[in-house]
Amino acid sequence: MSAIIKVEHLTRVFDVSKPWLNRVIERLPRALLTAVSDVSFEIEENSVYALVGESGSGKSTIGKIMVGLVAPSEGSVQVEDVDLATETDATKVEAVRANIQMIFQDPFASLNPRWRVRDVIAEPVAAKGGDTTGLAEKLLEQVGLSAADAGKYPHEFSGGQRQRICIARALASEPKIIVCDEPTSALDVSVQAQVLNLMSDLREELGLTYLFISHDLTVVQHMADRIGVLYLGRLVEEAPRDVLFDDPKHPYTQMLFAAAPKMDGFGREIDPPKGEIPDAINPPTGCAFHPRCPLAIERCSVERPEMRNLGATRVACHLAE
Ligand SMILES: Nc1ncnc2c1ncn2[C@@H]1O[C@H](COP(=O)(O)OP(=O)(O)OP(=O)(O)O)[C@@H](O)[C@H]1O
Ligand code: SF4
Ligand SMILES: [Mg+2]
Repeated sequence: MSAIIKVEHLTRVFDVSKPWLNRVIERLPRALLTAVSDVSFEIEENSVYALVGESGSGKSTIGKIMVGLVAPSEGSVQVEDVDLATETDATKVEAVRANIQMIFQDPFASLNPRWRVRDVIAEPVAAKGGDTTGLAEKLLEQVGLSAADAGKYPHEFSGGQRQRICIARALASEPKIIVCDEPTSALDVSVQAQVLNLMSDLREELGLTYLFISHDLTVVQHMADRIGVLYLGRLVEEAPRDVLFDDPKHPYTQMLFAAAPKMDGFGREIDPPKGEIPDAINPPTGCAFHPRCPLAIERCSVERPEMRNLGATRVACHLAE
């Protein structure tokens, strides 16, 4: 097994300053928000790598960098040994980009309502001048819908069916890698399982590799081979799924797990992790988790813990053992 994706020291800073004139009048400094900070991980071919973390932890930003919707400020993403930021051969970069597709959380927003499903699905191929004869019909059947659905419009489908259409569209250009950003979070729990099973089947059938973004640990446990836990833009723990679930080493991961099983009848979390997520513009010093960490010692507010190996786990915490 070899890594199909290598992410090294990935960092993305957003300038969230007020307009120049306001800054001058109100004597405000420039405001920079570090959404992703020094994140490194690798994804094996034909595996599912999940990124988990609370809202604002940088999950979607990493996904968008992967598919080229957002540029990294520092660090690199290598796909099949092509460095997307520094590779000068444009055809090489284009070929690699064509191999990565993305599925988003809101299946309605990502489908053009005025287009028939046939055109929605075939568009990525049509845009490149490829042959689309029978393509939408074949893909619709592959994702568990019917070929006859090709003539309908997106509003004629349920949420779960629409996400299947998005998956069909993502598969149209025969990608090797799919970035899935909370693909089932907007769906009913019963429909979620069906769509997730479809995604698992497709992965096996087509030999796909997934970067799977989710805040839902139940979903992640079902889908992932390897899991990275993000806190305020930094990777704080990474391990194979079973290792992480059996023996979470970072206090933040432990807090996520303690909160996870407490779902109400609608599958909503009723006991989220304690404490406020800090301001990403002025993150806490040392270990960014220290204001919420039940184990924090003095060193934690001063010195940022480096990522280190503990068995099969990588963890960034002074006290983890
Ligand atoms: N285009 C942007 N401009 C400014 N700030 C941004 C931009 N995109 C993201 N951010 C900020 O970067 C941080 C990370 O955002 P991101 O969307 O990656 O988080 P997330 O983990 O996907 O959260 P969620 O679970 O809510 O989707 C947040 O603080 C967000 O406000
Ligand atoms: S480094 Fe300190 S504050 Fe951070 S998670 Fe570990 S114990 Fe908690
Ligand atoms: Mg997001």
